[in-house]
Amino acid sequence: MKITFYGHACFGIETQGKNIIVDPFITPNPKASKIDIAEIKADYILLTHGHGDHVADIENIKKHNPDVKLISNYELANYFGEKDIDSVGMNHGGTYKCDIGAVKMVPAIHSSSLPDGTYGGNPGGFVLSNEESTIYIAGDTSVTMDMQLIPAMGFALDLAILPIGDLFTMDYKEASYAAELVKCDRIVGCHFDTFPPIEIDEEQAEIYFRDKGQELILMSIGQTLDV
Ligand code: NI
Ligand code: MN
Repeated sequence: MKITFYGHACFGIETQGKNIIVDPFITPNPKASKIDIAEIKADYILLTHGHGDHVADIENIKKHNPDVKLISNYELANYFGEKDIDSVGMNHGGTYKCDIGAVKMVPAIHSSSLPDGTYGGNPGGFVLSNEESTIYIAGDTSVTMDMQLIPAMGFALDLAILPIGDLFTMDYKEASYAAELVKCDRIVGCHFDTFPPIEIDEEQAEIYFRDKGQELILMSIGQTLDV
């Protein structure tokens, strides 16, 4: 599995010969100006919730990848389905099996209205597992004891992608605790530094994780990681 960071909470995942984009938000992000959205290949979009900083480029991705399939909660799948995007709706606890593996939707503590005010269902995260790896994409969330259920249900995570920027999500200290709850020591941080209210001291965050025997990876935009 290859994970590429496109800034904020947006990632590309290459796995089993397929390409996935998570929470597409590139063109409105000045920090991601070097990323050319026209060059991003996507067979699937994984969408955690409806906020603007997660849905902004869905229609751009569709324009360049007409066969892309969106996987999200029931309400967001209906919303984007009406915009002619092939969509799979699911809900917490459900698993969608397809050629990228098993995609399980798990709870997130957040909100999920769309930029036009439409109700966006409940926010979620995903556990993506296949023969290559198992990863957890938390989405925007507080730390929550529900995270313990991921390892309890048998998922042995190779990587967890957690928000660390505070204000709209948990901060990095809580993300370190979340890493304990999901029993994963290899963390990619996201949802920080995009806007002034979520700026963090990156070095302090890395040290905080290291002192707990965990690895916090803060990828640069455009960087790719092997999992
Ligand atoms: Ni959000
Ligand atoms: Mn967000």
